[in-house]
Amino acid sequence: MTRLGLALLLALAAPASADRAQVEAGEAAFRKCASCHKIGPGAKHATGPHLNGVFGRKAGALEDFRYSPDIVRMGNDGLVWDYEKLHLYLENPKTLVSGTRMNFRGVRDEAERAAIIAFLRAYSDKPSDIPESAPTNPGGDPQVAAAILAIQGDPDYGEYLSGECVTCHQVDGADEGIPSITGWNEDDFVTALHAYRAKHRANPAMQLVAARLSDEEIAGLAAFFAKID
Ligand code: HEC
Ligand code: HEC
Repeated sequence: MTRLGLALLLALAAPASADRAQVEAGEAAFRKCASCHKIGPGAKHATGPHLNGVFGRKAGALEDFRYSPDIVRMGNDGLVWDYEKLHLYLENPKTLVSGTRMNFRGVRDEAERAAIIAFLRAYSDKPSDIPESAPTNPGGDPQVAAAILAIQGDPDYGEYLSGECVTCHQVDGADEGIPSITGWNEDDFVTALHAYRAKHRANPAMQLVAARLSDEEIAGLAAFFAKID
């Protein structure tokens, strides 16, 4: 998915047009960050680390970037970049990580921070991990009936059906803004697809994809993608 432009990414990843406006505001506000951070396909480290896939990731975790000892220690102690922690860090980096190398006074305006975070989210591996998306995914995905989870998926059939999926999701699991779907637990995979089919998850592209799939087809896809890692 390296050639996906931001516009297409937004069309796929933004749950609603209101969020889309927010992401666009975030893109504009990201100018404050752009002197130090690159983001998007092929982004490299600069003064700061590239920010692809930062959501849900341990702080200070990119192997090839030289972080401050402080942020690395906090990452090892359990600091993970979720919505709330990003808000704190972006408001005033040094109050969260006192010895951080991010020499930036912070973004005081909460709405502006939220927009920047929404923009970062468009480049996140796992949009579903982001609490901000919770309204579209209340209390996690709805439970799928045991009889449906019990369906033995045929991985060969799943492979046959997977052609469409891998136009967006990369088979090697690497991705730029589209979550990885390889090596998942089969029940979780089935539950996620049913959540799109039932429109409990908001992403319109995935809702369309899931609406066309039968229970057996979902089971086959789960069995196929589970084998890849
Ligand atoms: C003056 C340069 C500079 C600016 C401006 C800047 N950053 Fe940073 N940022 C850094 C550096 C350097 C680090 C590494 C921090 C460390 O090692 O303690 C960092 C770290 C981060 C991290 C943690 C990344 C990780 O892998 O743990 C996030 C998230 C982040 N910056 C977001 C932003 C955002 C969003 C903005 C704009 C609102 C911004 N930064 C502005 C230099 C900057
Ligand atoms: C048009 C591009 C596109 C196609 C085609 C597509 N997906 Fe997706 N898929 C996405 C996007 C974007 C997301 C993240 C949506 C969100 O925010 O909920 C996603 C999310 C998912 C998730 C949940 C991932 C997570 O981290 O929670 C699963 C599972 C999934 N897709 C499976 C499939 C399968 C199976 C197919 C083929 C039958 C498929 N997708 C086809 C774009 C696509």
